[in-house]
Amino acid sequence: MGRWQLLQGAAGGQGAAEARLFAKEGAKVVATDFNYELLEQTIKSINDEIGSEGVLGLKHNVASEEDWETVVSETVNRFGKVDILINNAGILGSLSTDITGYSREDFEKVMEVNTTGKFLGIRAAVPEMKKNGGSSIVILPFEHDFKKHFIPINQLHN
Ligand SMILES: NC(=O)c1ccc[n+]([C@@H]2O[C@H](COP(=O)([O-])OP(=O)(O)OC[C@H]3O[C@@H](n4cnc5c(N)ncnc54)[C@H](O)[C@@H]3O)[C@@H](O)[C@H]2O)c1
Repeated sequence: MGRWQLLQGAAGGQGAAEARLFAKEGAKVVATDFNYELLEQTIKSINDEIGSEGVLGLKHNVASEEDWETVVSETVNRFGKVDILINNAGILGSLSTDITGYSREDFEKVMEVNTTGKFLGIRAAVPEMKKNGGSSIVILPFEHDFKKHFIPINQLHN
């Protein structure tokens, strides 16, 4: 594959699986997460498995503009470019409640990570990606968070 990709939310779940898969295919992966302890364990296990240092880990909160600037510039300084951005980090919010028990603070926290975080990542990475003559941005959806909370209109009439 020979491409550099920047993937966040990579300590566990789908992000860790994606980092493993791409590293095995030969991509160089910059994997980030705000759970740095778990991220380090995940990266060690991937690098041990592929027998190289193909995955680099950085601590990163996707809701922070400063963190995005650091992660993009660190990637470019160390590896020269960003080919692929995978906006994977996401949180679920209060899945145990229905819409009437879902606080504004919780909703705004989900929006900050799942929506603002993706916007900040794209805005930070695009200037570098434009220099490569062809790049990809993947945005993981989070619609299932809301399906659980927002009752379809037809059910409100029952
Ligand atoms: N698992 C599913 O069935 C499913 C379905 C549809 C969409 N998605 C989306 O795919 C993505 C990954 O899902 P998952 O199930 O692997 O989730 P997960 O909870 O297992 O992993 C998410 C990772 O993101 C990290 N993270 C959370 N907030 C962060 C932040 N502010 N900054 C940096 N890292 C942060 C967590 O530490 C964790 O490692 C999410 O965006 C989710 O909404 C998942």
